Amino acid sequence: MNITFLLNGETVSAPAVPATATFLDWLRESQHLTGTKEGCNEGDCGACTVMVTDDRGTHALNACILLLPQLHGKAVRTVEGLATDGVLHPVQQSMVDHHGSQCGFCTPGFVVAMATSHANEETDHATALAGNLCRCTGYAPILRAAKAAEAQAKPAWLKTDRDYALADTGSDTSSPAPEGDQPDASAEAAAALPGSSDALAALLLEHPETTLIAGATDVGLWVTKQLRELPRTAFLHLCRDLQDIDITDDTLRIGAAVTMDRVLTLMEDHHPSYAAMIRRYGSAQVRAAATIGGNIANGSPIGDNPPALIALDATLHLRRGDTRRDLPIEAFFLDYGKQDRAESEFVEAVSIPRQPDRLKCYKLSKRFDQDISAVCGCFSLTIEDQTVTDARIAFGGMAGTPKRAAALETALIGQPWTREAVVDAMPELDNDFEPMSDMRASAAYRLDAARNMILRYFLEDASGLCTISEVTP
Ligand SMILES: Cc1cc2nc3c(=O)[nH]c(=O)nc-3n(C[C@H](O)[C@H](O)[C@H](O)COP(=O)(O)OP(=O)(O)OC[C@H]3O[C@@H](n4cnc5c(N)ncnc54)[C@H](O)[C@@H]3O)c2cc1C
Ligand code: FES
Ligand code: FES
Repeated sequence: MNITFLLNGETVSAPAVPATATFLDWLRESQHLTGTKEGCNEGDCGACTVMVTDDRGTHALNACILLLPQLHGKAVRTVEGLATDGVLHPVQQSMVDHHGSQCGFCTPGFVVAMATSHANEETDHATALAGNLCRCTGYAPILRAAKAAEAQAKPAWLKTDRDYALADTGSDTSSPAPEGDQPDASAEAAAALPGSSDALAALLLEHPETTLIAGATDVGLWVTKQLRELPRTAFLHLCRDLQDIDITDDTLRIGAAVTMDRVLTLMEDHHPSYAAMIRRYGSAQVRAAATIGGNIANGSPIGDNPPALIALDATLHLRRGDTRRDLPIEAFFLDYGKQDRAESEFVEAVSIPRQPDRLKCYKLSKRFDQDISAVCGCFSLTIEDQTVTDARIAFGGMAGTPKRAAALETALIGQPWTREAVVDAMPELDNDFEPMSDMRASAAYRLDAARNMILRYFLEDASGLCTISEVTP
């Protein structure tokens, strides 16, 4: 597989790379660009942050879990490419001026993340830098440096990168690595870059054993932490039709390869509480890579999207060859590690019915940012004449799959929307779930937290913080 992209303004090719080569290893070992650091090698610390521009914009990404084929047709900047003719990038100069660095190990990652925010004119620096860890400086000088650089001019190379990414969108017809192209016969290099979901469907029929790679925020860790070999892979990022968001009068249809940063923006307009939860999904680097399809397909009991999608009565669209089927999203999760997905079948999209916004999502994790949920509760209740007439309640972290709280829903429906009725219904969660104890939380804590989430939903409604009462039918 011959991967071509723009690196610090120069077109580069990475011929015959294995599909699972990480960009970080390639940069450091093959290009000797050692400014990009390896800290955790699992997407948590941001020391390896690089700036990647594609036809959708400029993003910070973690190079340690970015596989080289994902870069085909894109423009990349590492810390070595930020200064122009010996003049520091404004964020670099600002870090010097504001004493934003001590040992310096984290600094390249911070600087590239800051340069990305600068390019995108973002001003919420705490959010943008939540995925970058520093063990010695403390964050205040770094945040001050980011703020002070806001008004400085953007470097001229940004336009070069954007022009390159827009000119070479990596479509299957113009791509130097066209769909199904597998010039290297070795099994390890058998990777494909299908250019459409039709091509992907055909490929999966022929090679059902193929591992799909979307954002690689799970698969990247299989490579770096579990040292897994993936004999045959297909990357989804050139399947443009899997990246569409279609908004009609009836539904929000989200393609499987839509990244979480785009889901966040979409939900700000439709279900703000969902957006607020996704704001805490990993970090800016993770949200720019991870896809909603990957988050559903992996079947994790602690993924953040599934409980919200179940509460919103979403439909999952699956495809095998030319055959498509739809199922309520909760029916997809059969058991721990087991989903209702046939051989050669893939997730094409998920649809959410348009509805009045009654959704509240509560994510409980040990850290506010960059942490997986211990418990995630999502609630959508319909209240008419102060009576509960419908309820969709789903939890992550309470069972081996994301799961509806059927007993709690039944206990609430038909009851008055009062604190007493809610408190009476709360013990029903013991009939819905037998959670496990693990490093994130004990079983008892999980049950307590879940009970209190429904009470919180009621209290927020009663205090006007949440707008679920008296929904017009
Ligand atoms: C640092 C870090 C923080 C994280 N924080 C969170 C968090 O806060 N909340 C959370 O929910 N998750 C979190 N995750 C987990 C991860 O981001 C998600 O599981 C992610 O959504 C997976 O999507 P992806 O596109 O990266 O999938 P990939 O890693 O590319 O693939 C994941 C799995 O899905 C399969 N797959 C991908 N697309 C399809 C498709 N269209 N059809 C069928 N199968 C498919 C792949 O073959 C693979 O088995 C975090 C991960 C990291 C590394
Ligand atoms: S090395 Fe820590 S996020 Fe990549
Ligand atoms: S300056 Fe030392 S880790 Fe940040």
